[in-house]
Amino acid sequence: MSTDATAVPVHVDRGTAYELEPPAHDTDLVEVERGTPAGELLRRYWHPVALSSDATSTPRTVRALGEELILFRSGDGRPGLLHPRCCHRGTTLYYGKVEEHGIRCCYHGWLFDAEGNTLDMPCEPDSGRYKDRYRQPWYPVREYHGLVFAYLGPPDRKPAFPTYDVLDDVEDGWEVIANDENIGLEGDITPCNWFQTHENVMDPFHVFILHAGFSGNQFVAEMASMPEVSWHATEFGVTSHQDRTLDDGRFFHRVTEVLVPTVRIVASPFVDVTGRSDSVAWTLPISRTETKIFTLVKRPVGATVPRPLYDGRRWEELSEAEHQRFPGDYEAQVGQGAVTVHNHEHLASSDKGVVMFRHAFRRALAAVERGDDPVGVTRDTDTATYTVRAGNYIGPRDEVIGLG
Ligand code: FES
Ligand SMILES: [Fe+2]
Repeated sequence: MSTDATAVPVHVDRGTAYELEPPAHDTDLVEVERGTPAGELLRRYWHPVALSSDATSTPRTVRALGEELILFRSGDGRPGLLHPRCCHRGTTLYYGKVEEHGIRCCYHGWLFDAEGNTLDMPCEPDSGRYKDRYRQPWYPVREYHGLVFAYLGPPDRKPAFPTYDVLDDVEDGWEVIANDENIGLEGDITPCNWFQTHENVMDPFHVFILHAGFSGNQFVAEMASMPEVSWHATEFGVTSHQDRTLDDGRFFHRVTEVLVPTVRIVASPFVDVTGRSDSVAWTLPISRTETKIFTLVKRPVGATVPRPLYDGRRWEELSEAEHQRFPGDYEAQVGQGAVTVHNHEHLASSDKGVVMFRHAFRRALAAVERGDDPVGVTRDTDTATYTVRAGNYIGPRDEVIGLG
């Protein structure tokens, strides 16, 4: 019997999907719930949870950081954000009635103000002789240019409310517009973890591939060439610089920034606004698998804010087959899965900004674990103003390169 057949090495396939490790997420980055390290870090900052126009005399459910809350605006104009379960016997305040000074529970009529103080207990002697003993759990809120921000963290750690100089300085004839537009789906929720959405802001290479080539040019000619990219750690987060020489010889220095944990400052990708960014946005983790972006943008009164087009149309006008041919941010980010699988990634040189932001986030996690305030938190004043760096700076190279 010949043994020749066994002498030939048998080809073994490599890199098949069978060899993949079981999927795992980096919990440090993706958790949002109270009591988790990242959930506690997120709870050290103010987050936008709704548009001011969502706070009305009709109670509305809002969700943030894995919690469900009831938002309303009492007749005296104050927005309130309360835990939904009534502190009496637990029915939901969603069915409550909003009055001049608060919201009244439908079940036994207890009335709570925007800070949860009990104002009336109609079934108790003297309408609630001991009202002071009962408080509906609540969260502090602030309104800023048409957004309702809430602080969901430990009361003794509440930070100064951050404001942004480009939004605080609104010239005559200009206005700040609040929107909760969400990658083409207005008012909707992106069905994936917030971190993969947020770190995308430090990924300028995808702009050239996804937005300027793969799906046609979704922005403008100035954005359509491959930039020279660098990233820089800043006091509060990371910036990316994207430099291009335009066809007409001018130099285009574009700066984008993220601040730990959820602030994203991206100048208009339509380059219709030059100089410093006219907008600031926040990524809100709604739950571990749902995300929403809130934006404030300053524009001349009546001006419209351009939106990306997909084959000349709006995102919501495309069929499923057309989304396959003209994908955008929604498809790329939701396409990573409800929570991206970190142990299957292969980070490369173009991911340096993503890695830098993950490091900045982990340093903030460590600060909270040590008992310190995380980056960007100040507590000695009522408000703290941030000077925006992001922008579209166009001009002679040596004049614009140092801006931002
Ligand atoms: S359950 Fe709300 S008043 Fe009784
Ligand atoms: Fe994008």
